[in-house]
Amino acid sequence: MIDNVSGLFRATFGAAPVVVASAPGRVNLIGEHTDYNGGPVLPVATSARTSVAVGPAEPGVLELISTLDGERTRIDWRAGRPTGWCAYLAGVMRELDAGGAAPAGAGARVAVASAVPVGAGLASSAALTVAAAQALSLLATVRLSPRQLAGVAYRAEHDYVGVGCGIMDQMCASLARPGHALLLECASLATRYIPIRGRLLLVDTGTRHELTAGALNERRAECEAAVARLRLELPELVWLASWPARWLPRLKRALAEPLRSRALHVVGETARTRFGAQLLTRGHMRRFGKLLYEAHESCRRLYECSAPELDLVVAAARRAGALGARLTGAGWGGAVLVLLGKGDGARGKSEAKVAKEIRRAFAAAYGREPSITSVRPSGGARGKHVTGQGMLRASGVKETTHV
Ligand code: GLA
Repeated sequence: MIDNVSGLFRATFGAAPVVVASAPGRVNLIGEHTDYNGGPVLPVATSARTSVAVGPAEPGVLELISTLDGERTRIDWRAGRPTGWCAYLAGVMRELDAGGAAPAGAGARVAVASAVPVGAGLASSAALTVAAAQALSLLATVRLSPRQLAGVAYRAEHDYVGVGCGIMDQMCASLARPGHALLLECASLATRYIPIRGRLLLVDTGTRHELTAGALNERRAECEAAVARLRLELPELVWLASWPARWLPRLKRALAEPLRSRALHVVGETARTRFGAQLLTRGHMRRFGKLLYEAHESCRRLYECSAPELDLVVAAARRAGALGARLTGAGWGGAVLVLLGKGDGARGKSEAKVAKEIRRAFAAAYGREPSITSVRPSGGARGKHVTGQGMLRASGVKETTHV
């Protein structure tokens, strides 16, 4: 991927890039739609990554090329609001500029190569913005911490592009560790790494959602409306996820539909995720798997963010003997995560057998096969200078390598 993106940069701009960086997509194990409600999430980073190669350009100009659409674009990012994936890069540049971490003149040439599928619920936009923030800040000879990278990427997507996302994807793309899930409490941003046991399959149904088209923004607005109403009961309530689980009857009385169902999902999912993190820590994989099925049901019935294709895959996984399965990411299409036990035999079904049964059920219903891959939890953003010239010109300091 790194070679691809350097090659794309060279072929497009006729020069070598100065910095190359990459960031992963993510698969969320549990904790869906809790992040923007101040609750916990438990994602892992995928081995599929987005790579970004950058070099200097005229002040205020972004010259862009991407494997996403193959088109070369030139934008004066201060003058207007670009559309599509270019908007995410303009957002990153704006945030870096505001924080004094943009390259000289806040202009850059940028090439993007991505192996993270778009719209599959695997956080392709965070992989792009985190990788870009890493590459562009290194081009400026500024080393941002992983949390700072996540903040830049989050504000680019949330404030600039206008997607009502939480901070899960950007934190995972920046901070993930190989072989571990990241338990992130989104109100405090406290983190803990939990080793992954069991095996994970990802079933991409091929159905796509368009986040900016509004479903996520609509749910977020419903959650905010629920908090506004619940403050009459609990004046100091800030986050929906902080509503006490023992006060569910009071919540049900206070809220009308659909806010009641949305809030019940968020409060239930918050409890499930914290409990799930404990189970995963102790290696209680069967009980953890049961929670995944429950979480899917809550997404389907209460949060109404599932899709028939996702429900079918979850049901087929259950019939095939998987420990757990649920939609992962925002929903309304995209992918299902399937949890299997440690090995073949009594405690763990073979990956091949479960995958075959899911494929067969899906093909019988939809006449095509989903793509099924195994998930290898990987690490967060990394970047390095590949040529020293841009850096020497910019600051006169010695080249350093960050990986
Ligand atoms: C999208 C958002 C995330 C999170 C999930 C749902 O992926 O980008 O911040 O809200 O949906 O859990």
